[in-house]
Amino acid sequence: MVDHAFTDTRLAGLYDALNPWGRGDDFYLGLVHDAGAVLDVGCGTGALLARAREEGHTGRLCGLDPAPGMLAVARRRQDVEWTLGALPHVRPGGAFDLVVMNGHAFQVWVDDAEIRASLAAVRELLAPGGRFAFETRNPAGRAWESWTPDRAVEVDGVRVGHEVVAGFDGRTVTFDTTFRGAGWRTAEVSRSTLRFLTAGELDGFLAEAGLVVESRWGDWDRSPVTASSPEILSVCRVAEQVSKAAAS
Ligand SMILES: C[S@@+](CC[C@H](N)C(=O)[O-])C[C@H]1O[C@@H](n2cnc3c(N)ncnc32)[C@H](O)[C@@H]1O
Repeated sequence: MVDHAFTDTRLAGLYDALNPWGRGDDFYLGLVHDAGAVLDVGCGTGALLARAREEGHTGRLCGLDPAPGMLAVARRRQDVEWTLGALPHVRPGGAFDLVVMNGHAFQVWVDDAEIRASLAAVRELLAPGGRFAFETRNPAGRAWESWTPDRAVEVDGVRVGHEVVAGFDGRTVTFDTTFRGAGWRTAEVSRSTLRFLTAGELDGFLAEAGLVVESRWGDWDRSPVTASSPEILSVCRVAEQVSKAAAS
């Protein structure tokens, strides 16, 4: 089930203020500009593709997201294709030179079966030579330890805080995000569960889908993955295409 924070139009309207453009977005923007046809899976409010178009990207830009609230924000821009839905069942037609999942969208795939089916769909959507780029938080970085109510922030008159309700059990973390708006009758609470995978577990799923990691970093500065790096950032290609290129 998709989080209330993303499906609800009022809460989704706060997303860009809560998650301003950052180093991760710069990283993906470079990849988008180097690719002709791009699919953003879990595109949210569409900030990445909107920025690419604004900066002159002339190719196909397509965003896919199952949350109506997020897509309502994205659809303010009409020069990008927006599709409501999620892999593997909903997929835009055609093939893509680049598929991206940014903003830790990869972590919303919680179950093994969902990861397998979605990665198989990504692989089928890649054009020859295409790349799949995504990041997931390194479980060793224990990001959830900072998801505490005392770190609440205020945007557009709404106080937004996190609280972990089920800590890391080796697979997932479940937490609540509470939105308290000035003048709102009641607070809104959105529950989320995110999957945390080690690099080794990730590579197992990628290999099953016929994908191989071409580059991997532990942070946006392209430093290596270490025990304490915050991210596991992967750029992948279709495995058989990599081995063919190496053989020729
Ligand atoms: C943290 S937001 C990231 C949004 C955007 N990529 C960004 O960087 O700002 C996660 C997004 O994943 C979407 N999502 C939820 N379930 C999904 C699924 N099964 N497949 C793809 N996206 C999903 C949510 O609706 C939400 O927009």
